[in-house]
Amino acid sequence: MKTFYSFSLLALAASLMAATACKKLPPSKPASQWTAQEASGAAVYKNYCARCHYPNNTYDLHGPGLQALYKQKYMPSGAPANDERITTIILHGRGMMPATQITDEQLADLLAYLKTL
Ligand code: HEC
Repeated sequence: MKTFYSFSLLALAASLMAATACKKLPPSKPASQWTAQEASGAAVYKNYCARCHYPNNTYDLHGPGLQALYKQKYMPSGAPANDERITTIILHGRGMMPATQITDEQLADLLAYLKTL
């Protein structure tokens, strides 16, 4: 019984921490302040990513929500959130995520947009 209670306490503490972590996500840059490049990137996102990823939270759709992707040190998989890793994931896919075929310009715009999240 005692172990059961300490387990539930741990679970409660963990969920409280998760809840605070969610609230602590820094806000995304509002669309009204996007640069031209960020706006183009948002269009790329809409076409290629939005069906599987929410941009404005971290809940799962098909893949994890991408809010604050670049503002956190690590991505959901534990890989560091940087241009190199994210480019590789976009161009080559990962697990259930398919590879995306986009031009270098679309990719640069998309990365600029992802940084606003
Ligand atoms: C068909 C659905 C689908 C599409 C389209 C898709 N993704 Fe994903 N994505 C996933 C899934 C599923 C995962 C989780 C993969 C895993 O870790 O096994 C994922 C993971 C990710 C991750 C987290 C990787 C990590 O290391 O945790 C990023 C970042 C990401 N996707 C970005 C994108 C971007 C940007 C696009 C648009 C170019 C995109 N995805 C398009 C399904 C998708």
